[in-house]
Amino acid sequence: MTADLNISSQTPDNHQPDLTQNQPDQASEQNTQSWRAIQTFMKRKTHMGKKAEAGFRAEYADFFVQPDLATVQAMDIEGITDLRQLFAHPENPLTLEIGFGMGTSLVEMGKAAPERNFVGIEVHEAGLGNCAFLAGEQGLTNLKLISGDAISLMKQLPADHIDTVQLYFPDPWQKKRHYKRRFVSPERMAVVERVLKQDGVFHAATDWEHYAHWMIEVLDSLPGFVNAVGQTADGIGEFLPRPDFRPLTKFEKRGINEGRAIFDVMYRKR
Ligand SMILES: C[S@@+](CC[C@H](N)C(=O)[O-])C[C@H]1O[C@@H](n2cnc3c(N)ncnc32)[C@H](O)[C@@H]1O
Repeated sequence: MTADLNISSQTPDNHQPDLTQNQPDQASEQNTQSWRAIQTFMKRKTHMGKKAEAGFRAEYADFFVQPDLATVQAMDIEGITDLRQLFAHPENPLTLEIGFGMGTSLVEMGKAAPERNFVGIEVHEAGLGNCAFLAGEQGLTNLKLISGDAISLMKQLPADHIDTVQLYFPDPWQKKRHYKRRFVSPERMAVVERVLKQDGVFHAATDWEHYAHWMIEVLDSLPGFVNAVGQTADGIGEFLPRPDFRPLTKFEKRGINEGRAIFDVMYRKR
């Protein structure tokens, strides 16, 4: 492992990631409710490219779990309570990718592993269309797409349902006042833990060093997870060397071009 796990020397503001920034304020019911409304994404209105537009044509409809464009646009996930049954082979290992962006790497993974089923969830409409188009070009039969918030979706799935949850280059929410929007938090990871099968994997990657150490600290603090690589002598979870099976993503490329290091984090459900 190359990472120096002394968090305090690595954080931009030279302090330990303060996980209490991430806790719901339990002082009042009102505060608890406002915590619940905090989202990990900012819905962007972006230009729909030609491929993204094409991806919403009828010939790609099979890639979408939701029945029509209005439901996709509304990010309406009502009634999606089982991901396995979306596939011809529900017994195959199931991967859920949260925030697949434009979908290039998800489609590549789907193509490379036809023995697995993949579900991607995004809130970014152009990404959903683009991913459906790319999946159609590759003729994938093991990929389904959902428009909506991954946390809400996972809350309505059965426990012990998914083999792998992957989160590649999540929004880093770098300002301290935004840390509570980070996807990796004790509360959100408890939601992930519930839907993972025993020995199921949570795999994240980030190009933001502070967030990388934050992820390790959050996941080390949860007794339901064990670091898949091992621990340092100080009992801190290790980073995973970049695995070959994870294709380069758009945001990873951007991070590398801007001179940032890449960190992979992998934990198993006990
Ligand atoms: C920084 S982008 C990374 C995209 C892609 N994984 C990559 O590496 O190029 C993060 C993506 O996560 C999505 N996202 C964030 N929170 C989400 C959530 N709760 N549910 C679904 N998608 C989410 C955002 O819409 C955004 O497209």
